[in-house]
Amino acid sequence: MPQLASKDVLRADQFSKDEIEVIMNLAHEYEGALTDGRTLNVMEGQVLCTLFYEPSTRTRLSFEAAMLRLGGQVISVAEAKSSSASKGESLCDTIKTVEAYADVIVLRHPQIGAAKEAAEATSKPVLNAGDGAGQHPTQSLLDLYTIQKEKEAVDGLTVTLAGDLKNGRTVHSLALLLANYDVRFLFVSPGALSMPAKIVDRLREAGISVKMAEDLAGALRESDVLYMTRIQKERFDDPSEYDRLKDSFILTRKHIEDARNGVVVMHPLPRVNEIAEDMDDYSGAAYFRQAANGVPVRMALLALVSGRA
Ligand code: CP
Repeated sequence: MPQLASKDVLRADQFSKDEIEVIMNLAHEYEGALTDGRTLNVMEGQVLCTLFYEPSTRTRLSFEAAMLRLGGQVISVAEAKSSSASKGESLCDTIKTVEAYADVIVLRHPQIGAAKEAAEATSKPVLNAGDGAGQHPTQSLLDLYTIQKEKEAVDGLTVTLAGDLKNGRTVHSLALLLANYDVRFLFVSPGALSMPAKIVDRLREAGISVKMAEDLAGALRESDVLYMTRIQKERFDDPSEYDRLKDSFILTRKHIEDARNGVVVMHPLPRVNEIAEDMDDYSGAAYFRQAANGVPVRMALLALVSGRA
């Protein structure tokens, strides 16, 4: 039985397949409790601190909803400028302070490696809610949960990741998490925004087939899952380069006419322009269901790292 109690969640590639299955099964159980309206007290007496130094709607609110649904309590910093980070306090000092107030800490930060640095400053579990253009491991777990629900089996799927694969932390984590399964990847991006070679190499070393492409329509003909991402404006130093690339791929209902039957369309959200609104009533458009899955998956993570499940 995998032991996740007191563990940090920093990277998608930290999990064994057994650990992933434990998280998925518990999330499924909690989703059932939510659907039935059952009250849970798994996290009673525990306090979660959400420290968000970059904007968020889904990750922060679904973590907070997850804690409340488990009977725990939440304290929150929703933006860096409302915290003493704006006065120059180091992340390490903030974490050493917050550990006296909370039992578990969820951190979003613009710097790659910030969650690891925070975890080294405290014995309390730290969950990485996005570290710059690094990773977003809890998102990848809810993405996997969504794929399992939408497609049942993960093995055998062709998964296309499209958009800003260079800066998109969700696709970094999802690619590494899915390396635990027998999947085939198509990576569709402008040349300037391709998946980091380090990740591609890791996947190929794991025996995963990876093909690069720049043609979304062609990739859709082979895809069981299409995972679209936003071009990450906040990671560009040169605004004109963002303007050049921002509308590289716009998925419309027309694409679905020629796509593989039953293709599931996902997106971590927020979307800007990369999925047209005419996609929203397509039965395989799973992105809002995906966002909802954040609650049971994060409930499972909170309960497991706190040793309450
Ligand atoms: N998917 C995701 O990370 O969304 P937020 O930025 O709204 O948290």
